[in-house]
Amino acid sequence: MKRLCILGATGSIGQQSLDVVRQHPDQFTVVGLSGHRNISQLIQDCLEFRPECVHVPDSLAAQKLTAELPKNIRCLVGPEALISMAQECRTDLLILAIVGTASLAASYAAICARIPIALACKEVLVSAGSLIQKAARDYGVPLLPIDSEHAAIHQCLAYVQHDITHVRRMTLTASGGPFWNQPNLDWATITPDEAVKHPQWSMGKKISVDSATLMNKGLELIEAHYLFDIAYEKLSVLIHPQSVVHSIVDFVDGVSLAQMGPADMRIPIQYALTYPESQQAQWPTLNLHEHTLTFTQPDTTRFPLLDLAITCGKHGGGLPSILTAANEAAVYQFLNHAIGFDAIYAWVNRAIEHFQHEKVDDIASIIDLDTRVKQWVTAGGQ
Ligand SMILES: NC(=O)c1ccc[n+]([C@@H]2O[C@H](COP(=O)([O-])OP(=O)(O)OC[C@H]3O[C@@H](n4cnc5c(N)ncnc54)[C@H](OP(=O)(O)O)[C@@H]3O)[C@@H](O)[C@H]2O)c1
Repeated sequence: MKRLCILGATGSIGQQSLDVVRQHPDQFTVVGLSGHRNISQLIQDCLEFRPECVHVPDSLAAQKLTAELPKNIRCLVGPEALISMAQECRTDLLILAIVGTASLAASYAAICARIPIALACKEVLVSAGSLIQKAARDYGVPLLPIDSEHAAIHQCLAYVQHDITHVRRMTLTASGGPFWNQPNLDWATITPDEAVKHPQWSMGKKISVDSATLMNKGLELIEAHYLFDIAYEKLSVLIHPQSVVHSIVDFVDGVSLAQMGPADMRIPIQYALTYPESQQAQWPTLNLHEHTLTFTQPDTTRFPLLDLAITCGKHGGGLPSILTAANEAAVYQFLNHAIGFDAIYAWVNRAIEHFQHEKVDDIASIIDLDTRVKQWVTAGGQ
């Protein structure tokens, strides 16, 4: 039995991970779950999966939770407890599915404690990629991708036994989001409800907005750079609205491999949870005759966050941390109707100009920078 701990259990990835567990009760046991605001969902999941530990952000949430749960489920409270949770639960595989950078400290601590990771929260790898990759190498910790594009690349790389020197190019596909086919749209008038309506995937609100701006693909390029240790010059993006091909790898011998499948995140989640084995599942299967597949180059004039992310990734240092922190704060400002859709790019750009000379050399300085950038954007640049 693999002992699983899920940080961000109440979210889209967390809930789909629990669905995978439901399919394989003989293989997985859930030992830890965390939630943030959706305490009623967390209670429901605890009653179904009976974890040893559950994490909530504050004492109010803890009161609500403990009133409903059996006494043998331990309730951990506050940010410090999130950092130690995976170790306390004696976790075999930690699923990182908290949106944004809120799990930076917990993710880094888990790697240093040699806990294998199934990674959904790309923002953590974008913000602290060098440190996380170094820690993963030093402690021999596998980082298994949950993002569908990276899971696809991981599968293609089996062709060369994951030897990256055989790779000529990696192409991440992007659906293009809801506005790809609307060139005459007035970006200032786009509402949060319109931006979160993703044509192919059902996801949390933040990643849905990131898909609509194409920032999601920019973050994923940086994620790929760190996960696979591949140069930015070998990374590219194609718009593929059908979301059937999840990524393509071209090898130096002329072979190109593309990974395909239905747009269902439970497939890459199960891949990460069962790796290196492959297991039977009940998910929908792909019927290629139902699709016409198209691929086009991204338009970075209309979607400038993609290029900005690549520039920050190539520059390195503190820029990727500023990029993802500013984007996260700006996206929530947009979702809260405080700024327009078109202002997301403007705020990320302004934050990069404002903080670009900041130095980051350890996880504490990255967390500090992340906090200050988010406060600055949320306060309107004060
Ligand atoms: N959804 C997808 O299909 C998909 C695909 C690929 C990659 N990803 C990545 O996976 C991550 C999660 O995405 P999602 O779509 O699952 O997001 P989501 O549905 O918004 O869920 C986010 C999770 O994080 C928790 N959370 C939010 N803020 C928190 C905080 N400050 N401290 C602790 N926990 C907090 C939420 O708890 P409450 O709900 O209880 O408030 C929830 O459990 C993101 O990094 C995203 O880019 C998602």
